[in-house]
Amino acid sequence: MFTLIKVKDYEAMSDEAFKVMKGVVADPKCVLGLATGSSPIGLYQRMIADHKENGTSYAEVTTFNLDEYVGLPKSHPESYYSFMHRNLFEGLDIREENIHIPEDGEDHDAKCREYDEAMQEYRVDLQVLGIGSNGHIGFNEPGTPFDSKTHIVTLKESTRKDNARFFEDDINKVPTHAITMGIDTIMHAKKVIIVASGANKADAIYAMMKGPVTEECPASILQKHPDVVVVVDEAAAAKL
Ligand code: GLP
Repeated sequence: MFTLIKVKDYEAMSDEAFKVMKGVVADPKCVLGLATGSSPIGLYQRMIADHKENGTSYAEVTTFNLDEYVGLPKSHPESYYSFMHRNLFEGLDIREENIHIPEDGEDHDAKCREYDEAMQEYRVDLQVLGIGSNGHIGFNEPGTPFDSKTHIVTLKESTRKDNARFFEDDINKVPTHAITMGIDTIMHAKKVIIVASGANKADAIYAMMKGPVTEECPASILQKHPDVVVVVDEAAAAKL
C-alpha cells in the first residue's frame, strides 16, 4: 500500500523523508536498508545534522546497502562504499562492523549467498529506495525476476548513461556490472520509503504506482508491499 506525499521540491522531499526516518531511528537498534544515488543525499544530510544537534545515536544501528558496482575498488570515489562513507557514515557514530555493502569476489555465487545469509539474521525496519528512470530499484533492471535474491547484474545502457554524470560524462567509464540485493529481499523490509525528484522520474513513478505489476517495471512490485511511503516532488509526480 502506498502513502503518497507530494511536495514542491528536493529540499521539501528530503524534509518529509527525514520525518519518516526519525520515527524509525527512535529505536536505537533499528536496521536500515540504504540506497545510493542523488535522491537520498538530502535525507542523509538531515540524519547527520540530527545526530550532531540532537545526539540521535547510530552506535547500535545496523545497515544494509542495496548495491555496489562490480570492478571498482572500494577506494574509487564513485564506488558505493565511498559514496556511503562520504555522504552518511562519516557523519554518524555508526560502527564500521554494523555496515554491510554487497561486494563481489572471485566466487560470485558465494559472495551473493554471503550477503543474503548476513541479511537473514535481521529484518530491515526501513528500506530507503531511489528509482531509476527505467523503474529499476537497487540495480534490479527491467526483466529481473520478482523472486530474485542478491545477484550480479549486467547494467542497461540507459542506466549507464544516467550514471555517466558521475564518471566524467563518459559512459565507457561506467562499470558494466553490479551486485544488487534482489527484489524478494527488498520486499521483506517492514517499511519502504521511496524518494524521487525531477521530471526524468515521472514515467517511472507513474508506472510504479499506476501501471501493471510487471517485471518490466521492477518498482511496480511495491504495489504488493503493505507499507510504502512515496515522497515525490512536483516534477516527479507530474504524470500521476
Ligand atoms: C542508481 C542506483 C539506484 C538509484 C538510482 C537512481 O543506478 N543503483 O539505487 O536509486 O540509480 O539514482 P538517482 O537518485 O541519482 O537518480
